[in-house]
Amino acid sequence: MCLSELLKKNQNRIFAKINFNCLKMNNTIAGFSKLSKDEKINWIANHYFATPDEAIETVKKYWNSDKVLQQLHDEFIENTISNFYVPLGVAPNFLINGRNYTIPMAIEESSVVAAASKSAKFWATRGGFTTTVVATEKIGQVHFLFSGDESKLTSFFTNIKSSFFSDTVTLTQNMRQRGGGILNIELRNKTDLIPNYYQLHVTFETKDSMGANFINSCLEQLAKTLKNQANSYDLFSTEEKEIEVIMSILSNFVPNCLVRAEVSCPVEDLKEKHIENPEVFAQRFVQAVRIAEVEPYRAVTHNKGIMNGIDAVVIATGNDFRAVEAGVHAYAAKNGGYSSLSHATIENGHFRFWLEIPLALGTVGGLTGLHPLVKFCLEMLEKPSAQELMEVVAVAGLAQNFAALRSLTTTGIQEGHMKMHLNNILNQFQVTSDERNSIKQHFKNETISHSAVVRFIEDLRNKQ
Ligand code: MEV
Repeated sequence: MCLSELLKKNQNRIFAKINFNCLKMNNTIAGFSKLSKDEKINWIANHYFATPDEAIETVKKYWNSDKVLQQLHDEFIENTISNFYVPLGVAPNFLINGRNYTIPMAIEESSVVAAASKSAKFWATRGGFTTTVVATEKIGQVHFLFSGDESKLTSFFTNIKSSFFSDTVTLTQNMRQRGGGILNIELRNKTDLIPNYYQLHVTFETKDSMGANFINSCLEQLAKTLKNQANSYDLFSTEEKEIEVIMSILSNFVPNCLVRAEVSCPVEDLKEKHIENPEVFAQRFVQAVRIAEVEPYRAVTHNKGIMNGIDAVVIATGNDFRAVEAGVHAYAAKNGGYSSLSHATIENGHFRFWLEIPLALGTVGGLTGLHPLVKFCLEMLEKPSAQELMEVVAVAGLAQNFAALRSLTTTGIQEGHMKMHLNNILNQFQVTSDERNSIKQHFKNETISHSAVVRFIEDLRNKQ
């Protein structure tokens, strides 16, 4: 290529870059939600990508060819442009309260499903997991401001309490038929925290539904009743009649919607490959849990491992993992410091390991009747009630934690993890099946690290 051609080529490249950057500077849009799906994708591709055609191809590759299924997914959220896959795996052989389960897990992290399966197998021959649902109460609050005489507010609340129930009768009818409904409504004085701040603190039973919509609808009605009744309450002054409702919303902190999962066995029964001395193993294990109980830096990672199991099942069964995460971590900090969700003891030669977590889950309503794979997962779990699902989810968390602590206190976590991670690296480099075989053979006896694998692939390819 002569010099003038080279200059022209570079010039074109620079202009293309300038054009692309100019487009990027003007990347706001009005009425985006009104565009068709194709128009949305085109707008994004043209505004953010140097090679729009490639971007469009990537996004469309993930569309489902079944148009009805695709439309179902499109309508779960707003501005859908494609689907974002997360693998669905299964962990078989879970013995829970004497019954066998295959647990579905939707998760992108390698090793998690393998770890759950390993724990399931380990405990199936040692009595399995036992679980108890401690309580199933949900909570919602109406947050409001009242400036006036507190004793007058208290008697007003007592006087009108029955209207809270009667005004929500149509909303609660179906739930009451299923054995749920509003359990109690309390007036709580929070003026020590914020001037004039009070709450209606409401407890609910929502049976097999997670109950978010039910709770929020009830709360909004309770707020209306509160305002209307205050407005016509003769004993209030004009100012006191003006109760200001700030918001009405359920709480994702559900310390009384609690499940406990446990495993236990005589210490000598812990013996297995990598656990040659079960006494030493049990002591190191209990010590590791103790560290997570007292040391927040460790507790967060320890609990993250528990959530690997919990979130995966919560997602696979169409439940709200953000709500579960928020509630579980608040529970982990309920005593004022962040601590371990699980506990372990050795007493009279007996090893016990358990956790107690708040879980507000549903097996009816929401996504459970809509998402075909959620329906599939619930059927695989033999259509559990919400309480049974709480038990399965808690067990997945405990199993995960057991597997992590078992590795951490014996071989270390990286050995197993890197074996699984190897596949991800091989996929990233799009290795051929011959290359895959040579690499796997080589790393059978070598320490796996990202850089070592990459170097090996490069050497292999250079030789070819
Ligand atoms: C990794 O996803 C989870 C662990 O770090 C949990 C733990 O350290 O207990 C292995």
